[in-house]
Amino acid sequence: MGKVISFINQKGVVGKTTMAFNAAHALAKNGHKVLAIDLDPQANLTLLFKAQNELNINHLLINSIKELKMLHVQALLGNVLVRGTVDLLPGGQELSGFDLTVAAVNTPRQLVLKKFLETNGLNDRYDFIIIDCPPTLGLLVINSLCASDGVIVPFRPDDFSLKGLEHFYQVIEDIAEMGIVKAPEVFLHVPNLVDLRRKQESDDLNKIIQAIDSELGEGKVFSPFLNKAGLVKSLASRKSVFDFKTQEFSELQEKFSGVAQKIEEWSHEHR
Ligand SMILES: Nc1ncnc2c1ncn2[C@@H]1O[C@H](COP(=O)(O)OP(=O)(O)OP(=O)(O)O)[C@@H](O)[C@H]1O
Ligand SMILES: [Mg+2]
Repeated sequence: MGKVISFINQKGVVGKTTMAFNAAHALAKNGHKVLAIDLDPQANLTLLFKAQNELNINHLLINSIKELKMLHVQALLGNVLVRGTVDLLPGGQELSGFDLTVAAVNTPRQLVLKKFLETNGLNDRYDFIIIDCPPTLGLLVINSLCASDGVIVPFRPDDFSLKGLEHFYQVIEDIAEMGIVKAPEVFLHVPNLVDLRRKQESDDLNKIIQAIDSELGEGKVFSPFLNKAGLVKSLASRKSVFDFKTQEFSELQEKFSGVAQKIEEWSHEHR
């Protein structure tokens, strides 16, 4: 069985999409079969894949709910899936209607994505399913959490990130208490866009690391990603850092290989 891993932070612009994209490619480079799912109506991940589908994951999810028959469209998994080094189920603006559309159905609303993955045997077809989430804690993200085995939280260290993290852990606890699925494990936090020259920022980061250590145990925070021009450049050309051969990218490649290694180790421990 493959592992489903979500990249989540309810705060925006912390690097979820950047990390999900490059981590997915790092895993593929190591020989794994990887599916990326874009659950964000902004569809930034889909843009990085240069995939512009008419149909997206929202159509498949709505199609999977029998009660919503009047909203079903002609779309099979094979029409929506984009194949590549990393396969993709694209996102699209239709996802912004998901919460409202699904609000009134009687089937368990939190489990639509989980059931969709199971019904289509996707957990068996891939070693890793990487989900890029929107910057909310809405129903889509709850669906992602309920479908996931593990969670990675990219964050920017500042005064507010600790409060946000605590709120997020609470949401995971709520899912555990619902008792209908096993809550996913938050096994990695990735400090991103860190400026270690700014004292306030390294102080904030240390405080956050201490808080995570005492809440979840040590070893769950990755070494910080600094502000890297190379990353901006690669994203602008819609490529992963592994598509570049110059020296400028070797450090970034090492970092993302490190993230992939953490994912592999965690998945190995949870077979
Ligand atoms: N380490 C980094 N160095 C330089 N730029 C970065 C770094 N990480 C991310 N960025 C840039 O920051 C911006 C936000 O990154 P990204 O889109 O991955 O964040 P996000 O959390 O997915 O945002 P959203 O919440 O809107 O989905 C992007 O323009 C990206 O190019
Ligand atoms: Mg994003």
